[in-house]
Amino acid sequence: MREKTTWERFFDAHAPIYEDNVFTKNTVHEVDFLLEELHLPPGGSVLDVGCGTGRHAIELAERGYAVTGLDLSSEMLSIAADAAKAESVHVEWIRANATQFTMPERYDAVVCLCEGAFGLLGQSDDPIDQPLSILCNISRSLKPRARAVFTVLNAAAMIRRFQDKDVAEGRFDPFTMVESSECAPQEGLPAVAVRERAFVPTELILLFRIAGMSVLNMWGGTAGNWGRRPLDLDEIEIMIVACKTAELSAAGAAAKPRA
Ligand SMILES: C[S@@+](CC[C@H](N)C(=O)[O-])C[C@H]1O[C@@H](n2cnc3c(N)ncnc32)[C@H](O)[C@@H]1O
Repeated sequence: MREKTTWERFFDAHAPIYEDNVFTKNTVHEVDFLLEELHLPPGGSVLDVGCGTGRHAIELAERGYAVTGLDLSSEMLSIAADAAKAESVHVEWIRANATQFTMPERYDAVVCLCEGAFGLLGQSDDPIDQPLSILCNISRSLKPRARAVFTVLNAAAMIRRFQDKDVAEGRFDPFTMVESSECAPQEGLPAVAVRERAFVPTELILLFRIAGMSVLNMWGGTAGNWGRRPLDLDEIEIMIVACKTAELSAAGAAAKPRA
C-alpha cells in the first residue's frame, strides 16, 4: 500500500476543521483579486494547485471558469467535492502530488495559494528540488504567456521569529529556510512532524526564471489579508504574480516530474 506523506496525513486529519481557520474567510474578495491579476479569457481554464477544500476553485467555477482542483489529501478533496455539489458547480478534482502532476499547455492560469504544496516539504524532500519540481510542473501546464498567482512563506518573517537556540535545537535551518515542527491536526489528535520552507524574493525570481516564468509583481500577501502593498519584514506570506515567458531552462528541464 502507498505510504502517505506527512502533509497528506496532516491535512487528511485537519480537513474537517480546515475552514474554521480565520484566514479562509475572505475567499470572494480573494477571487476578485485573482481575476484582476490572471487576465483570463471568458470561461478560461484554471488549475488550483493544493486546492484544499476547494474554496477558490468553487468560487472560480461559479464565475464560469473551467477549474481543476489538485490536492494531495483525499479528505480535503472529499470536502471540496461535497461543497461543489452543494453549490451545483462542476470542478474536476484530482488527487495527486504537485511534484508529479503536469498537463502540458492545458491551462489559461494556475493558482497555488496559502502554501498549496509550494513550501510544504515531505520529510525527505530536498528544499530546492521539491519546490523547483512543482514550479516546473506548473510552468509546463500553463499555455504560453498565461499567468499564475502564488502565496508563499516569507523567509524574512521566519528568520525574525527564530533565535540561535532554535537553530541549535533543529527548529529552524538558516541555510535552507526550513522550519521543522510538530503540529496536531486537531485538538486531541497526535502531532505530525512537518517541514515548512520559506523563500526570499531574489531566490523566487531565480526559481521562477529556471521554470520559464517571469515574476511580474511581488507584494505582501498574508492569508486573509491580500493587497498590492510592499512586502514588509514581518509579512507572513509573499504574493507572487508570474507569467510563463519561456521554455524551461536546462536546469528546469532537468527537474523532471518526479515518480
Ligand atoms: C494550507 S492548505 C491551502 C488550501 C487552499 N489553497 C486554500 O487557500 O485554502 C495546503 C493544501 O496543499 C495540499 N498539499 C500539500 N502538499 C501538496 C503536494 N505536494 N501536492 C498537492 N497538494 C499538496 C494540502 O493537502 C492542503 O490541502
